[in-house]
Amino acid sequence: MSSMKLGVNIDHVAVLREARRVNDPDILNALFIACQSGADQITIHLREDRRHIQDVDAYNIMKHSTMPVNLECSINRSILNIVTDLKPHRATLVPEKREEVTTEGGLDVIKYEDEISYAIELLHDYIIPVSLFIDPTIEAVEMSKKLGAEMVELHTGSFANIYAMLNSSLSYSNHSIKELQLPRHELAIKLEKSITAIKEAAKHAKKIGLEVAAGHGLNYNNVDEMMKIAEITELNIGQSIVARSVFSGLADAVKEMKRLTTR
Ligand code: PXP
Repeated sequence: MSSMKLGVNIDHVAVLREARRVNDPDILNALFIACQSGADQITIHLREDRRHIQDVDAYNIMKHSTMPVNLECSINRSILNIVTDLKPHRATLVPEKREEVTTEGGLDVIKYEDEISYAIELLHDYIIPVSLFIDPTIEAVEMSKKLGAEMVELHTGSFANIYAMLNSSLSYSNHSIKELQLPRHELAIKLEKSITAIKEAAKHAKKIGLEVAAGHGLNYNNVDEMMKIAEITELNIGQSIVARSVFSGLADAVKEMKRLTTR
């Protein structure tokens, strides 16, 4: 039995659909195929700007999913009202900026302590467990516990960026990350440090009674590093699975990720 849960994030299926504003590809097909192919959970992000998942998608997914639904959302009041109406199996609070391409960095749990505390209390009133998407630091983990979250999701974006600059062709592409254009030995040191930070944050979170997930930028190459961290019991993965599905189909893409994330 696997002790790792795979949450498949299908936002990017909606990105493709919204590019044409038609109902193709159909988000519910993605839900059913992910479910049949080994996903343990479906993850969606109802963004304030509705750039991919729409309200109707969230309602339909809640209605038809036979898997738990992990709904990512900001602490914006009008979004929280939709979440309390939807009553997902879990809400994951994430930071949101309109101008970003994707969620950059974890929640600032110190700066937004009051707002996050309000959101957690509200969600708990509706019996919705809460996960906080945070940077892998001991301070953020401690604060998440203090705020009353049941779970943390450690942001693996920084690890994934360094991994890609070191081990893929990213550094030769238009999307090369300027601040990571460093000699290879320096990148290797940074990569080790980023893994250590995730490991220590995960250990500490488990020690103080939080469940531990990880996500962002995880793919078929780098996911193995996360599999070595016993305290992590859930991974939420979207972009790499949907990207692979363009070539191999969603079913095979999910099955292969499930194979790689089975302990
Ligand atoms: N987890 C959280 C909290 C996220 O915000 C995202 C991106 O929406 C993911 C996981 C999935 O990230 P990716 O699409 O890079 O796999």
